[in-house]
Amino acid sequence: MSTHIGAPKGAIAPRVLLPGDPLRAKFIAEKYFDNAKLYNEVRGMLGYTGTYKGVEISVQGTGMGMPSHAIYVHELINFYGARSLIRVGSCGSLRAEVKVRDIIMALSASTDSAMLAESFKGMNFAPTANWTLADEAMRSAKALGLTLKAGTVFSTDSFYNANTELWKIWAQYGILVVEMEVAALYTAAARFGVKALALLTVSDSLVTHEETSSEEREKTFTDMMELALETAIKVEI
Ligand code: HPA
Repeated sequence: MSTHIGAPKGAIAPRVLLPGDPLRAKFIAEKYFDNAKLYNEVRGMLGYTGTYKGVEISVQGTGMGMPSHAIYVHELINFYGARSLIRVGSCGSLRAEVKVRDIIMALSASTDSAMLAESFKGMNFAPTANWTLADEAMRSAKALGLTLKAGTVFSTDSFYNANTELWKIWAQYGILVVEMEVAALYTAAARFGVKALALLTVSDSLVTHEETSSEEREKTFTDMMELALETAIKVEI
């Protein structure tokens, strides 16, 4: 048992999918896993292990924001031996060409995270996706007939920033979307020498103010989930 995950060592697979929403973890396990077993209910942050096409895989909810996400990622890697982590999440479009329901692959993540700035003593680290996972995701997307847009993302600490125009700075630098976890995931993966990738479905747009409902968010993200599963099982760990 680690501090925040109530599972014995060995209960979690080396390949882990990471939705922010624990109900999305349940949805993925029930829809896609064979022999899904619930291994964690601590704080309602559901985690399951099963198999997908015969390969052992886990899915763990992480909550919202980098501090919460980083706790689960740290424990998955260091207590349970996770080696390949794929975030499956949502994001908001910062650019007109990025539409609601597009699937985005985060090549790198800029951030306003205080937690990460503190780690680097005021210097800047460039959190970057694992190339092998990214390359396989692009190939798997083509095989599934999905359009995957690869680009840079902005990971923010603040969903409701008091400065409602600040995101435009990031948009000017070509950043496609805003979300709240990827920079912490890629930084932890670099620190501990494991593979990480983030796939994100666009749930809303800061440009057009179009949105998806929370029900749609839970149920209609299946293309991204299938892409994440295919990518996870194809890449060696
Ligand atoms: N901001 C931050 N995170 C998000 C958003 C957003 O607009 N949409 C989905 N995740």
